Amino acid sequence: MPDSSSFSDLLLEWFRANKRPLPWRLTYDPYHVWLSEIMLQQTQMDRAVAYFNRFLGRFPTIHNLARASEDEVLRFWEGLGYYSRARNLLKAAREIVSRHAGVIPADAAALGALPGVGRYTTGAVLSIAYNEDVPAVDANVERVLARCFDIALSPKDPSAKPYFTELAASLIPAGQARDFNQALMEFGALVCTPRDPSCAACPLAGVCKALAAGTVEDRPALPAAKPAVHIGMGTAVIQHKGLFFVQKRTPGGVWAGLWEFPGGQMEPGEEPEQTALREVAEETGFTVRSLGKLAVIKHSYTRYRVTMHAYLAAFPEGAEPPEPVLTAATSYRWLPFDALANLAFPTAMRKLAQAMERDPRIAR
Ligand code: ADE
Repeated sequence: MPDSSSFSDLLLEWFRANKRPLPWRLTYDPYHVWLSEIMLQQTQMDRAVAYFNRFLGRFPTIHNLARASEDEVLRFWEGLGYYSRARNLLKAAREIVSRHAGVIPADAAALGALPGVGRYTTGAVLSIAYNEDVPAVDANVERVLARCFDIALSPKDPSAKPYFTELAASLIPAGQARDFNQALMEFGALVCTPRDPSCAACPLAGVCKALAAGTVEDRPALPAAKPAVHIGMGTAVIQHKGLFFVQKRTPGGVWAGLWEFPGGQMEPGEEPEQTALREVAEETGFTVRSLGKLAVIKHSYTRYRVTMHAYLAAFPEGAEPPEPVLTAATSYRWLPFDALANLAFPTAMRKLAQAMERDPRIAR
């Protein structure tokens, strides 16, 4: 491990010379710190500062906020996004007034019990407002630590979180968490940036392990790729008097609102042809028979590797299709082949339609 005291000393020295004059840094009033932390959760610094000033202009104390209507608080949040933050802020303000005499709690359990206050915000308020020696680890802090200590674990990996938290805690110079935690965040935002960090001019270059090892670009490490998931599907292209049955998927799920030929995932022990006919029955109520294989379509998205076995299917000789009973779709159509080109199909279904073009059994 690098000499952690020189790391912390250099960082504090940099912060004292370079910190931005942010409004909540004037007095470190706990209400200001809490509000700033909620605003900064999903908002860039410049925007957060503008909204912070406007918000405090209207709600200068937590008592003003607690008395406000939700509509008015939301109006002052308008444009910041993630509006549950504003609703939780108001709920928490009311709890703080009714249960904590209007004082932002200074202990982790009481803070963490407030709406919208998680582990990070608890650490940030305790350290920045009350200068308590506890860590506050956000993405900026993770990146700075991953680089300076050349950590190969990914901070996105939940099992690595305690490592970063404990390292951050161990680096806090006694009695200086307020400045030290903010220094880590500020340094991540201004110098040790996600892309093109300013290593050439970095005051920590002499203690940065990743710089020494040439691994700055690889830190923080990406989470381990999740293994590929193979999915087998059976699908039926039902042809009747030159028309093809298609249905529009219900909202929700991967193919929501798109058109498809009926089908679905193979169950254990099932042959894909059985899958196709079973899925047709489940999704439409139709009893059809298979006229044999039409195509095998391979398609990948994110970590899924889909192999779709498509069959040509038909109603028994002389039978007319009944009205379908749709269970996976909101509507259906019987369309000639050329009209399939105009449907919004998922990629795998589009590939299937292209394969149909080459099949002599398909009516065109
Ligand atoms: N990000 C979240 N809180 C911060 C703070 N107090 N200073 C700098 N960046 C931050």
